[in-house]
Amino acid sequence: KVKRDKMTILVLGLNNSGKSTIINHFKKSNEQSAIMVPTVGFLIEQFYNMGVCIKAIDMSGATRYRNLWEHQFKNCQGIIYVIDSSDRMRFVVVKDELDLVLQHPDLSNRILPILFYGNKSDLEDSLSNVKIAAALGLENIKEKPWHICSSNAVSGEGLDEGIQWLVQQIR
Ligand code: GTP
Repeated sequence: KVKRDKMTILVLGLNNSGKSTIINHFKKSNEQSAIMVPTVGFLIEQFYNMGVCIKAIDMSGATRYRNLWEHQFKNCQGIIYVIDSSDRMRFVVVKDELDLVLQHPDLSNRILPILFYGNKSDLEDSLSNVKIAAALGLENIKEKPWHICSSNAVSGEGLDEGIQWLVQQIR
């Protein structure tokens, strides 16, 4: 099997979960943005990790843009689903949106890896991975490989472990 040297991944999650901050971390320091502003619609970013060129589609998580997510499902090879692990009020919404993604006809019959970042793990009332996995019912995902790791996108802690898992799944 020829090793893949390019892949497209979709970065999903509610607004303010930290998607753009995560992608920014993976870019070279001279290409990084100094300030984070809410994404309007979506942004296409590119970076390299473990010798693979990764095209990351950073989808806005704002309610009015979430209907744009599904248009990208067909042409991606993996998904990063970012969760603000301190935003307990919106866990129900996080789960509803995840279920819509998993049930979508363009994804439901594909073996496509999903990486979950339990982001903002530095915040005091953040939930552990085990609790997030239980709240989202991740054990019910049978047909797709998935992995969850805690992250702090501001310091970068936990981000590399996650992306390395994802790249290994795809190539
Ligand atoms: P949308 O584009 O609106 O969908 O948001 P987003 O998911 O891209 O979030 P963004 O990366 O813009 O981050 C939102 C805010 O959370 C910013 O102020 C970030 O600095 C902050 N933030 C991101 N990750 C972390 C983290 O791990 N810990 C803490 N404390 N703050 C974070």
